Order: sequence, then structure tokens, then C-alpha cells
Amino acid sequence: MRLIIRDDAALASKYVADYIIERITAFNATPERPFVLGLPTGSSPVLIYQHLVRRHKAGEISFRNVVTFNMDEYVGLSREHPESYHSFMYKHFFSHVDVKPGNINILNGNAPDLEAECHEYEEKIKRAGGIELFLGGVGPDGHIAFNEPGSSLKSRTRVKTLAYDTIVANSRFFSNDLTQVPRMALTVGVQTVLEAREVVIIITGPHKAPALQKCIEGGLNHMWTLSSLQLHPHPMLVVDEDATLEL
Ligand code: GLP
Repeated sequence: MRLIIRDDAALASKYVADYIIERITAFNATPERPFVLGLPTGSSPVLIYQHLVRRHKAGEISFRNVVTFNMDEYVGLSREHPESYHSFMYKHFFSHVDVKPGNINILNGNAPDLEAECHEYEEKIKRAGGIELFLGGVGPDGHIAFNEPGSSLKSRTRVKTLAYDTIVANSRFFSNDLTQVPRMALTVGVQTVLEAREVVIIITGPHKAPALQKCIEGGLNHMWTLSSLQLHPHPMLVVDEDATLEL
């Protein structure tokens, strides 16, 4: 496992953005052979998206031949809700770059049949040729996407009930009102992430230090789904100094 440590969140984010650009550039994507990129939401990737947008505006990277798959979405929030992951992605990234609308894939948390939606998402990933690089963040309890503690390490895209800790952590986006936070989400599974050819996780802040410690010094453990990266051939964790406090 590669562990890249930078002084602070800004430098860690810049490292990740530059790395993604390097990978997309080296891939020489075409419409027939696009670069398939898995993307997260949350506060951790915001600075990464800012860097990507800045470099796109400087003419240094195009996303024309990039197909994206987001990791997760709340169940029951309208797409237009300011805290839906749809809104987040357009606000922070898609509205500012040249990715083609038809190349954007985000789970629909309002689909009439949620299980069918999840099944179809896995099929779409397969049809796209699999994910080249999955970028992710991590919850303070070590979850990736919405693979909450106790998720099967073989899990695939599915409906997931959110853990109480996640509801509390995410309530900051809902005026700190726990009752406003959706109770369920659609999420790619741990196995879906592990099947990406490369996985890059950004981890910043002292509150993420236990998750990082469990992932790289602890054993493989479904209570800390981040530790599943131990099963991946090319995982990379990009962290700030604060996140290393417990190593
Ligand atoms: C949510 C998302 C995760 C994200 C996590 C951490 O639970 N589903 O994908 O990694 O939040 O978010 P933050 O970066 O805001 O700490």
C-alpha cells in the first residue's frame, strides 16, 4: 500500500488532483476507449475538485473522454436538494468542466425499484469496461462510500441503512438536525471499489486518524471497511500530517 503524507489538506488534495490528471493524460482516452473514473462526495474531495477545475480552466486537462461513476447517493432526497450528491457533484465539479452529460453516472436514490437501480449500476460499470481509478474519502468510522461498519467485504452496489455515527457526522450538512438526514443510501459495494484497477483515498484531519491506523496497522476487518484496501493490488492513501496522529 502506498502512503503519501503531505503537510496539510491543501497539499494532499493538490497531490491527488495532479496524480489523477497524470493518469488521465497517460491513458490517451478516446470516445471509444474512455477513462473510467470513480468519484466521491463529502468535504474531503472539495479541494481536489477545485484543483481539477483550475487546471481544466488553464487548458491543462480535458474530461471529454472521461466517464464518471459516483460512489453513492442518499435515498429519498430530490436531485435538486442542495445536499443531494447530484447537486454536490454539479456544484463542485461537473458544471465547471467539459465532461459530457451522457458520461456522468450517479445512482438515483428516487428510482421506483432501488434494487434494480443498484443492479443496473453494476452492469453499467461492467459495460464501461470497469473502473480505472476510484477516488474515495473515508468516514471517521472507517467507511468507504456508504459501506458502513459491518458491511460485507464482498458487497456490491446496494441499498444501505446509514449507521448512527454517519447520520450524526453528516448532520452538519443538514443544519445539525439529525431528523433531516436521510436514513438510507445507495452505495457501491466494497467489492465494487476493490475491482477498480486503482484506488486512491484522501484522508485528512485528526478525526480520521483512527481509520487510517486501523487500515494500515490493523488487520482486515469488516468493521473498518477501509481496511479492505489491504486486498487491493494498487491502493494509495494520500493523507495529511493530522491524519497520521495514531500511527
Ligand atoms: C459520506 C460519504 C463518503 C465520504 C464520507 C466522509 O459518508 N458517503 O463517501 O467519504 O462521508 O466525508 P467527509 O469527507 O466529509 O469527512
